[in-house]
Amino acid sequence: MNDRLRWIEPPPDASRATFAQDVRAGLEAQPPRLDCRYFYDAAGSELFEAICALEEYYLTRAETEILAEHAPTIAAGFRQPISLVELGSGSSRKTRLLIEALLAAHGSLRYVPVDISRTMLEATTRTLLADYPALEIVAVAAEYEQGLAAVRSVDDRPRLVLWLGSNVGNLHRDEAADFLRRVRDGLAEGDRLLVGIDLRKDRATLERAYDDSRGVTARFNLNLLARINRELGGDFDLAAFRHVARYDEVAGRVEMYLVSTREQMVRIRDLDLVRRFAAGEAIHTENSYKYSPAEIDRLAAAAGLRVEARFEFHESVPAGLVAAQAPGPGERVPPGSPVLLTISRGRAPTPTPVPPTPAPTPTPTPALAPDEVIVPDLIRLPEAEAMRRITASGLMTTYNNYQTVDQVAPEARAFFLSVPPGHVVSQIPAPGTRVKKGTRVHLAIRKE
Ligand code: TRP
Repeated sequence: MNDRLRWIEPPPDASRATFAQDVRAGLEAQPPRLDCRYFYDAAGSELFEAICALEEYYLTRAETEILAEHAPTIAAGFRQPISLVELGSGSSRKTRLLIEALLAAHGSLRYVPVDISRTMLEATTRTLLADYPALEIVAVAAEYEQGLAAVRSVDDRPRLVLWLGSNVGNLHRDEAADFLRRVRDGLAEGDRLLVGIDLRKDRATLERAYDDSRGVTARFNLNLLARINRELGGDFDLAAFRHVARYDEVAGRVEMYLVSTREQMVRIRDLDLVRRFAAGEAIHTENSYKYSPAEIDRLAAAAGLRVEARFEFHESVPAGLVAAQAPGPGERVPPGSPVLLTISRGRAPTPTPVPPTPAPTPTPTPALAPDEVIVPDLIRLPEAEAMRRITASGLMTTYNNYQTVDQVAPEARAFFLSVPPGHVVSQIPAPGTRVKKGTRVHLAIRKE
């Protein structure tokens, strides 16, 4: 199996500061800061995976949906087997969608994941090789810059470079353009770059995504202090720092901080450093820049790139607009039937629960076309069973919404509470709708 796996581990760049040097410089600075590249040790990489699975962290869901929909088109843009280079590959979970499409299109593929967590890379390459017998992997355990240089030297095939996860947002806007320009300089005619960029959006959605209700993001941020304790003999009291995420609307960025909850002294043995923190003093740990469509154009132009295609995913409809209706448009229903509208709160679609519809009075309808199906009634079914029936009917599943009673319109609460947790409270399109095969069915599931 190992003839399909090669490792590249460039020696650490002697001109780059070490973790110890960066921590010292960051904590001696006023205001203090810590570099976000140090989030991703083994523990941090794992916590980040947990962030990606959070309901509030819509970014992973959006990218997955985009790749699920467009991977075949992206693959069809290349005529021969390519190298798929991924900057910051992490678990490579979303990338599987592209890997599968590229293998289907060309029969073989070289995947070149670049990641700073060697543990993460080892785990992912092992499972990818087992899952895809036609896949060859060149694993690069390095930071972006060194990784890119290494990639340039090994590779002769056409390339698709991936930079997902809104990682571009972790650089200042001008740094992002400079970095993309350097990536571009390493590309040949016909190579392509696919970048995941998060759009500017409302504050509530953003702040929730970076400060989730289960505190996973807080633990991820605090892991930076834990890492200093582990690797540099620090004595940070993790309970005395608080995770804060706030959106600066003018700058268009979510800023992350670790805020000292009291006056305290912190000692870092290996740095021979003692740092006093005032109550309320904040260590800046990360920015996540959001882009308007015009800012994306400017970024591409500044990097010397031409935008060939944009794939947008809008989970949210602006607040106050109708996000969905049941029965769906064009449906035949008896006169006087109720029409339920879901008014967007500007976030993930939270369809108003549709009460079970009484058996409709038969109306003559034209016969189903061969590519049409009738959406089954999934209301009150357990989630897994509903998902099974969606695929069994020739439709597609998607990410479901998990709702609590306070997310539901007052007039729908009694119905909502009559459905057991873990069961379907509403679906779009509504039961009985005739739709094209392959249509995605959104479910709302009662959470608790
Ligand atoms: N690239 C990710 C983003 O900007 C990184 C990230 C997600 C992150 N959640 C975070 C960084 C919380 C720090 C804290 O979305």
